[in-house]
Amino acid sequence: MSTENTDTTTEASTESDCGATSAASTESKCGASTDTTDETGSKCGASSSSSSSSSGCGASKSETTDENVSAAAADFEGEPGRLVAVGLGPGHAEGMTQRAKTALLEAEHIVGYTTYIDLLPDEVVEQADELYDTPMCGEVSRTEEAVDRTLAGNHVAIVGSGDPNVYALGGLALEIVESKGTTPSAVDFEVVPGVPAAQSCAARVGAPLVNDTVTVSLSDHLTPMADIESRLAAVAPEGFTIAIYNPWSRKRRENWERCCDILLEHRSADVPVGVVHGAGREDEQVEIVELGELKALGETDLVDMTTTVLVGNEETYVRDGRMVTPRGYESKYDY
Ligand SMILES: C[S@@+](CC[C@H](N)C(=O)[O-])C[C@H]1O[C@@H](n2cnc3c(N)ncnc32)[C@H](O)[C@@H]1O
Repeated sequence: MSTENTDTTTEASTESDCGATSAASTESKCGASTDTTDETGSKCGASSSSSSSSSGCGASKSETTDENVSAAAADFEGEPGRLVAVGLGPGHAEGMTQRAKTALLEAEHIVGYTTYIDLLPDEVVEQADELYDTPMCGEVSRTEEAVDRTLAGNHVAIVGSGDPNVYALGGLALEIVESKGTTPSAVDFEVVPGVPAAQSCAARVGAPLVNDTVTVSLSDHLTPMADIESRLAAVAPEGFTIAIYNPWSRKRRENWERCCDILLEHRSADVPVGVVHGAGREDEQVEIVELGELKALGETDLVDMTTTVLVGNEETYVRDGRMVTPRGYESKYDY
């Protein structure tokens, strides 16, 4: 197993607004290059030899942005391998599904954000031929790398926290497969689900989300904040419980404050809110607060980019340290 860590950023990168910073693109081990098989047996590269980077296999990726398309399917010789998008769940080995673990043990190459690669169980790391990780904001180059490695004949898992369908790379992987002129069937594409943060965090504070729930991401990297605000303003008056992802970073402080203001315009200040930082990780912190207290928490360690915030509805209450959102049975049955 060889590990390729391209993380050249500091902790601050997790609070970046994701500009065009890609440390990964110049260090790719797999792209449009001569077809080789290394000593691990992994296949790397396609038949084209054009290269503009320092990659060992000659990836044709820009050194300044992660938005470039590299090799196309036609550049690769031989049969493609398999591509699976695997959700790791909250971050501890016990929180991973058995199917996810099996999928990772079967993969030859595992590709992911550095933090998630670091969360992989030891046996998965030992079993893999290659690990390829990039810092946050390398999503496009990382996913291209995973697809290129697949087109070069490898069995590749691209990993992320929670579930691949929740603010994650499942869709991007399919878009890039298509942009390279191939099909999901050709690479035997599969999504392996994981427990999303909303659910793993909800479990830490009781049962806050048992009815209709809306998820909102405050990351304005891909969706303009004005759109996020209008969506939040549309759902806040309704009875939905709300799971807020990507709640706070230094650059998104105003998004957080605006979100709290919108919620308070439509819900009572004493509505319970579960705040879960790093569920299932070493630095986990869990608190249940009232909506009126929420905004100020943005300035504490509790709320950052590894926090999920669970906002109750007007029915939600707290008993013995647990949030309870009634399911509605009490209106039909005596208990
Ligand atoms: C890019 S989204 C990925 C979501 C992920 N695919 C899922 O299904 O949960 C990242 C956000 O997920 C939430 N998150 C991920 N892991 C978490 C954890 N262990 N504890 C609390 N929140 C978490 C945070 O809101 C974070 O900003």
